[in-house]
Amino acid sequence: MLILRIILSIFQALYLACKTFVKSKCSFGISCKELNLHKESVLNLVDLMISIFFSGDYDAVIVCLGSGAAFLPELSGRLPLRMCRGVIAHLQLPDHIREDYPENSPSILSDAWLAVQGPQTLYLGSTWEWKSRNFSRHVPEEEASKALAELLPKASAVYPAIKNWTVKGTCAGLRAMPPLTAEGSLPLLGCVDEFIGGPTECKYWLFTGLGSRGLFYHALLGKLMAQAILSCNEDLIPSELTSWKNQVKQ
Ligand SMILES: Cc1cc2nc3c(=O)[nH]c(=O)nc-3n(C[C@H](O)[C@H](O)[C@H](O)COP(=O)(O)OP(=O)(O)OC[C@H]3O[C@@H](n4cnc5c(N)ncnc54)[C@H](O)[C@@H]3O)c2cc1C
Ligand SMILES: *[C@@H]1O[C@H](CO)[C@@H](O)[C@H](O)[C@H]1NC(C)=O
Ligand SMILES: *[C@@H]1O[C@H](CO)[C@@H](O)[C@H](O)[C@H]1NC(C)=O
Repeated sequence: MLILRIILSIFQALYLACKTFVKSKCSFGISCKELNLHKESVLNLVDLMISIFFSGDYDAVIVCLGSGAAFLPELSGRLPLRMCRGVIAHLQLPDHIREDYPENSPSILSDAWLAVQGPQTLYLGSTWEWKSRNFSRHVPEEEASKALAELLPKASAVYPAIKNWTVKGTCAGLRAMPPLTAEGSLPLLGCVDEFIGGPTECKYWLFTGLGSRGLFYHALLGKLMAQAILSCNEDLIPSELTSWKNQVKQ
């Protein structure tokens, strides 16, 4: 939830930055571009290709659906991703406990992580359920108690006072873990026109496999990806990040 919230606020900030940029260009009278945000669920890339083809000219489509990319029919079974479900807990400190999480104290990354949101609220994560393909955010009672039995002792090892906190809820997500190669676990990037049998001029791009390191990789890889797309040149992306395509059957 924390990660999703951060990503969501990054997304909102990004959209705002684009809006501000477009407006500033416009007020200088250089070029007045229009910016639109459409939120919809994408069921497959072919329909998307048809609908954007009819809605006008476009430069590129970037598929950045996290683990959702592996569920698109055009990519399903063809991406070397390993799925891993994880549960996160939201904890609160009851008012009658006086030992708040001290202000300006850091969040903690250890066997489990504690993402502190304030003196009385934090997120605790996360579990690793390899091979699960269940992307439901909902966590049934049994899964929740199993997750807490795993997470609370780990949290307690670095922050014993966690015992005084109350669990307010849990939620889950699906990580898209990239394969482990000699170079490490690297995200999957690149042009994917050949996967959808569409135009072959690098219109469709994939950005996935951030695994559990999205916070680490997103800025650098986002920048590289943008450069590659703008210059229509996949070679601007380090080959370690695109080499997964050599192993995929077309
Ligand atoms: C339990 C858990 C713990 C994690 N812990 C960490 C951590 O400690 N540190 C770290 O760096 N990373 C962590 N991650 C990973 C982090 O969430 C990812 O690296 C990052 O979110 C990946 O970013 P993304 O933009 O590729 O995908 P996402 O953040 O998953 O964004 C994809 C978006 O696409 C949308 N989408 C999916 N399918 C479709 C579709 N068909 N149509 C329309 N929209 C769609 C989704 O709703 C979502 O909004 C964790 C992940 C999980 C699940
Ligand atoms: C996925 O999890 C949800 C809730 O956690 C559950 O209701 C659903 O049946 C699960 N789906 C599969 C395919 O296991
Ligand atoms: C829990 O809270 C009580 C009451 O505030 C306090 O006395 C106790 O030290 C706390 N427990 C831990 C492990 O910090």
